[in-house]
Amino acid sequence: MNLPRFLSLPVRALSAFGGVHTATSLERDGSISKPALLHLNECPYPPSPRVVEAVSRAVATANRYGDPRPDGLARLITERTGIPPENIVIGNGSDEILGLVSQMALQAGDNAVMPTPSFPRYRLGARAMGAEARLVRNLEDGRNDVLGLLQAIDANTKVVFACTPNNPSGAPLPQAEIRALVQGVPDDVLLVIDEAYYEFDAAQGGLGALPELRGRHGPWLSTRTLSKAYAIAGMRIGYGLAGSAEVADGLVRVKLNFNLSCLAVVAAEAALSDEAYAQGCIAKAVAERERMDILIEEMGYRTLPSRANFVSFDYRASAAPVISHMSAQGVFIREWRDPGYESFIRISMGLPQENDRALAAFARAVQDVDVA
Ligand SMILES: Cc1ncc(COP(=O)(O)O)c(C=O)c1O
Repeated sequence: MNLPRFLSLPVRALSAFGGVHTATSLERDGSISKPALLHLNECPYPPSPRVVEAVSRAVATANRYGDPRPDGLARLITERTGIPPENIVIGNGSDEILGLVSQMALQAGDNAVMPTPSFPRYRLGARAMGAEARLVRNLEDGRNDVLGLLQAIDANTKVVFACTPNNPSGAPLPQAEIRALVQGVPDDVLLVIDEAYYEFDAAQGGLGALPELRGRHGPWLSTRTLSKAYAIAGMRIGYGLAGSAEVADGLVRVKLNFNLSCLAVVAAEAALSDEAYAQGCIAKAVAERERMDILIEEMGYRTLPSRANFVSFDYRASAAPVISHMSAQGVFIREWRDPGYESFIRISMGLPQENDRALAAFARAVQDVDVA
């Protein structure tokens, strides 16, 4: 294809994101009534009533720009994490913060070391800057290969990414392996640990990366989100917890000044003030995942050990035909797509009846695909 001259060399190699079904696109389309959206790891429950109320009130002041660095929200995050407000950067989803990391740190000739399969932003962000995305395959159980990540570092490495619990596998890193990363990544390399599913892991006894990261001498960043456990994915709020104001200031250098909607900030403050609601959502997701895990294993498939709000398993044949059969039945789940993992399927935890519907649709799809 002839690409226009105005695209930079690195951007020529990227493809445009598109084609993903969302609640609004499906509603607009109208051909599927009551779709089950189990492909984006969202919370299936609506936001806390406090969020709905606070946002409805705040919309009356939307003629004004919001804060570039909302300190009220940062203080709420400080209360929970102990990270000082000057080390916190709030983003348009944690996706934005992860993208800013590459903008801040990378250029042609540099590399970023990262796990695969994992969240795509690490590699897309690095490549958009003309840097090399150095991919290290996860271990058999789906957790990041910490030794492999450390071995992939060389003199041109500026950033090392890790993800716990990892998406799309769900596997968390044990504390000792987080410690190995914290100690093994050189002091002049930025260590980024993506903890988008931290709250689910924490509800099951996980300690998260902060206790280890606090002992690191070199620069570090942990990213978290309100899209999952706090049920406001559509509001777009995530944040970075940095080990120093230096890292936070670097991110702010490349951040859009008014990256946050004022309504999103209000929504986040209200969501964080209703912890009981979030814990209810988390508990239901974990209970459903445990139930689904057993049912999928009973169907004869090996699930990966997940600590997040989704479960993945190996279908042992190309997943794509089964996935499209299921979407024709109104059930949206996701194949991993990563090279070498074409048989892996991920299901986000929805309402119990949606999860049951997913299994029934899956069974039907497997049968039809086998017969065809
Ligand atoms: C591992 C991981 N990191 C980051 C994100 C980004 O989430 P958000 O931009 O909604 O905060 C996601 C979303 O699915 C994710 O799975």
